[in-house]
Formats: sequence, C-alpha cells, structure tokens
Amino acid sequence: MHNSHLSIVLGFTLLLLTSATKAEPAKQTARYSLQSPDQQLALQLEVKPEGLFYSVNYAGRPVVMPSRLGLKIKGQAALGSGLKVVQTREREYNQDWQQPWGEQQTINEHYRELRVELAETGTKPRQLTLAIRAFNDGIGLRYEVPAQANLQEFVIEDELTEFVLAENSHTWWLPAYRNWGPEYQYLRSALSSVDVAFTPITLEARHYALAIHEAALVNYASMTLRLVNDNTKTLKVDLVPWPNGDKVRTAAPMQSPWRTIQIAPKAIDLLNSYLTLNLNEAPAPETLKADNSYIKPGKYMGIWWEMHIGEKDWSPGPKQGATTARAKEYIDFAAQHDISGILIEGWNKGWEGEWWQRKPTFIFDKPVDGLDLEEVTRYARDKGVEIIGHHETAAGVTYYEQQMDAAFGYYEKLGIHSVKMGYVGTRIDGDQWHHGQYMVNHFQRVVDTAARHKVMVNAHETVTDTGLRRTYPSLMTRECVRGMEYNGGSPDTGNMPDHTTIIPFTRGLSGPIDFTPGIFNFDYKKHRPYNRVPSTLANQLALYVVIYSPLQMVADLPENYAGHPAFQFIDDVPTDWKQSRALQGEIGEYLVIARQDKHSPDWYLGAITNQDARKLEVKLDFLDPKARYEAQIYRDGKDADWETNPEAYEIKRINVTAKSTLALDLKPGGGTAVRFKQR
Ligand code: NOJ
Ligand code: CA
Repeated sequence: MHNSHLSIVLGFTLLLLTSATKAEPAKQTARYSLQSPDQQLALQLEVKPEGLFYSVNYAGRPVVMPSRLGLKIKGQAALGSGLKVVQTREREYNQDWQQPWGEQQTINEHYRELRVELAETGTKPRQLTLAIRAFNDGIGLRYEVPAQANLQEFVIEDELTEFVLAENSHTWWLPAYRNWGPEYQYLRSALSSVDVAFTPITLEARHYALAIHEAALVNYASMTLRLVNDNTKTLKVDLVPWPNGDKVRTAAPMQSPWRTIQIAPKAIDLLNSYLTLNLNEAPAPETLKADNSYIKPGKYMGIWWEMHIGEKDWSPGPKQGATTARAKEYIDFAAQHDISGILIEGWNKGWEGEWWQRKPTFIFDKPVDGLDLEEVTRYARDKGVEIIGHHETAAGVTYYEQQMDAAFGYYEKLGIHSVKMGYVGTRIDGDQWHHGQYMVNHFQRVVDTAARHKVMVNAHETVTDTGLRRTYPSLMTRECVRGMEYNGGSPDTGNMPDHTTIIPFTRGLSGPIDFTPGIFNFDYKKHRPYNRVPSTLANQLALYVVIYSPLQMVADLPENYAGHPAFQFIDDVPTDWKQSRALQGEIGEYLVIARQDKHSPDWYLGAITNQDARKLEVKLDFLDPKARYEAQIYRDGKDADWETNPEAYEIKRINVTAKSTLALDLKPGGGTAVRFKQR
C-alpha cells in the first residue's frame, strides 16, 4: 500500500450557517431540528428545563420517540438538565474519501451537522456540547465536554442516553455481561424481551430496519443497551463498568464516542451503509507520513484448526503443533497458492498445560523448543510467504504490557508484520470486563505499539470494532463473534446453521470479522465425535465473499485442500475490494453479496442459506454492461445437506452478461460461490 492511497480525496465542505443564539432562558423549551441531506431522516432536539431530549423520524414515521440525553458525573448533579443554549452551529459536509484497503474503495461522507453548545445557569455552571450528524443512512450523536473551570478531572457514573423506540420490533441481540463476551449465538425476540445487549443491535420494524451501535470508541467504555423495566420499548445506555462501578475516568476536554442509529428501508440495506466509518477520523498526518508498505490485506493459513479439532496441542510435548517441520509444510502449500501469511499458534514459551486456567506465563520473544522461528521466517521469506505472529495473553494485560514493546520489536527484527492477538479468559486481569475503558485503552496501546514496529493487528476477544480502522489503517480485523473455533472442539456446543446468516446483519455492521472460514473436511470425529461444521462445502466457499475481512483465514489443514478442485475458488478470491453490494437477504434466513476485486475487473458472489433449502434469482446487473464474463460457479451438489452430505458440490461454467439472471439452488445449510471472470 502506498502512502498516496491513504490520503483523502478533497471534496468540498460547505459551511451553511453559524448562528450565535442568545442564551435561552432555562424555563422554556428550545427546539432544533436537523435533516439528512435527502430529507428522509429528521432529528428533533428539545432543550427543556428538566433535560435534553431527541427524537428521530424516518420517511415521515417516528423511529425514536423523545429520548433522554445527558451524563451523570460522579459526586455531582446530572449534566443534562437546567441547561441553556449558548450557541448553535450548523454545517453541511460532502466529500468522498478513499479506503487504503476495504470492502469499498471510495466512500461518500455526506452529512448535515448541528452543534449545540450548552451551559448550566447556576452559580458553578458546567458546559456540555452536543454534536449531531444526519446522514442519509443514519444519525450520529455525541457528547463533548469542553475545557472549563467547573469540570476538570471527573468520572462518568452513568450515561443517560436513551433510545425510546417507536415499535416493539423483532430484535436481533446478544446478551452482554457473560463470561465469554460476544462469543454466543444471537437471540431473536421482541424488543420488549431484551435484557442487556451488546451493540450493534439490529431491529426489524414494519416499515424500516435499524441498528444501534457506536463509532470512534476511544478512552471511554463500550456501550451496551439495557431495556428499561417500566417501558417495554426503551433501551438505555449501560456503559461497561470498572470493577468499582465507575464507567469512564476522564478529564475535560473530552468527547464520547458517537451513538449511532443506522436506518434503512430493509435490513439488507444496512449492509450497504458506511455510517460507522464515516463517523471516524481520517488518519493523523504522522500515520500518513509513515512507511505503511507493511499494511497488506491477504489470505492466511496456520497451525490452528489442528489444535481446535484435538489433533495437536498448543503445549509443548508429544502433541505440539508448532514445530519447524509442520510450519514448513504450511509454507510450502502457501507458496503454491495465493496465501500470503502463515500463523503459528503455540509458537512461544509458556503454553504448558491448562494455560487458559491460570495466570499467564507466556514469553513473547522466546520460541518454544522444537520451533526454529528464525529458520522458519527465513524459509518463508525465500518462498514469498510471511509469518504471522501470535500474542495470546490469556487476558493478562498487565503481565503482557511489561513485554509488549520488546515483543513487537522482536517481530520487527524477524520481519514479522502481522500479529493475531488473543485475550482468552472470563475477565481481564482478573476483575475487568473485556469491553470496559481499561481494555479499550489497553487495546489502543497495542495498536499504537504494533504500528510503531510495523505490525498489522488481528485481535480476538477484544473490544468490538467501532470503525477505528479508518484512523488506524494497520488495525485490520477482529473476531468479537462466535467464530469457526466453536465448531472445532470448544467445550460448548457448535454454531447453528443460521449463525452466518445473522452475523453479517449484526456484528458485521461494526467492521471486519475474522470468522476463519474454509473447512473442507467435515469428518474430524477422531477427537471430536460431537462437533461438526454446520454448513455445506459450497457454503464455506461463499463465506469468503459474505463475511468481509481484509485478513481472511483459510482455516483447514493443507492436506485437506491438496488436489481438491473446489480449492480453486479460495485461491482466486481476493480480500481487498473495489466495491461491495449486499443484494438480497433476510436476517437468519439467507444472504447474497457481490463484490468487485480491487485489482481486476472480476466480480465475486457469495450466497448462503440457513438450515432451509431455497431457490433464489439474482440479477447480474452489477456487472459491467459492456463486458462479457465466464461465471465459474461452485454450488451445492444435488443431495447436499449440511447434516447428511456436506461435501457434495459441483463446479459449473457458463457465460453471462449484466443482462443475465443467475438461478441459485441452495441446499440446507448450503451456498453458492461464483467468480465472474471477465472474458
Ligand atoms: C481463541 C481464539 O479465538 C482462537 O482463534 C485461538 O486459537 C485461541 N484463542 C488460542 O489463542
Ligand atoms: Ca475466540
């Protein structure tokens, strides 16, 4: 990646209006409204003596009823009532920008913004500013606490933000505050049955769909949403706390993350929205100036699945997975295919025994006996392959941070430019949630330190994405989902066949997912008699298109791919896209996505279904109308079924144009993957 690709394409910024409103007397209600550029979305803000309230309409229908805003500061009165308006500013911004890598190269950022500067009227008045942006695809809203005499260092005890939804919609949600973060199956219920949920949370109302999440989470706690008991349609922000109950420890000037509401006619349209990225900052000038040539999307394999299916182990000993010889087998396979990286889990000292049950003992610059990492990196380099590092911390952040800088320095010296992070454990450092401010700040230090040593980051068990990859282009992908590993041998049950038809509509709205697709061998019963991958082989292929990640794992063992005709699709499929289109889909049912390769005129399509077979028709009007293509189709075989016959598939080639319609015949748990190769 060249630096020039990181730079912003200049568009125009239009300053509409700056109005210095005279301080309103606090006894009256002051009302403001803000519309999206296409005027379909409208936000109303009311500054009342008893508090701040906002509401949202979409296409003339209420979406969010008047909902409270404000912050509760520890040891002080709530900041949000008794406020007067000091000044309001409005502007419109419309500019295209380029992602250095991503699912969509050019993104339009077009919004109207309203800033409302507020101050209390009493003797020791405090100040608060609300920043609100209305895009065509949603709303962003955040708190800013400017530098001021009466509020300096402080603790946020509670964020008062509410979402009083207009309808008791079908809600797709993931309960928060459980032992393994978001690594659970999503639930679907009426909004009124939600308890406390991670975000993104996705709701399907009768006339629109919406998702609530946050953008630009920096030095703050992650947001969860709790259903307020006495009102069956009100979700209130519940910030993930520190052990003593504090939510955010901070000092003015500060700003909260953006609270975001994506709104679209149908759930499928939420997948074509870039609201979260648009509410993040462009990279800092130092980031743009740095040598970013190490930042490269790509596919990777690794000594990984063999641990999860019980063939091998992370620990040294007879079942040790990380050996020089095994690493070289992976490197040899990768060198013959379009696989740029090899991950070696269990590569370092300290994995002995039940490493996830005790305080960490990992040493981050000492390879395990039996693995000559220097030799392996040299061997890989000679074959044009890169080694991917692994920092499993077992959730011991304090212990890890003592070694962190040296650990990344060690990788830099070896020429390792990519790391997979891990935080396996029910709490960080024994008593912290994985999503609180403590972890948010730790993970920021990881990204900064890694970038200083020219290392890309793929993090598991970390904080959910909020679009920060825009600001930090070396922050590639995250897990933060119930991934393929659960089909391997995790002590819990595996995933259900509908899981991959839910996560793009929920977790996927927050950013790239390191789901680790591509399992071809469905019979790994030797050590795992009760586990299986709940899909067909064609579905596994389709996931490379359906689930976006710039670093995409090719998760099975090389011997399960060798000589397999269907591997051609994995070899061909890119991980960096010029453009993406979510075409059809319903949450938990099916999904069809098309993406165009960034470096060729070819398009790729992935279609998946849940446990139900279904036939779909897909118009190919996304193709270049002037071009002709060969569609290389990898689809379920006649009798394919995730439960009884997952491996049945067929490859078909037909000629198509933008005028063609493709008929898809998806079997239970099945899928179709297509490469449209320009002729
Ligand atoms: C959990 C990760 O999600 C998985 O990919 C990894 O293999 C294990 N931790 C061990 O670090
Ligand atoms: Ca995990």
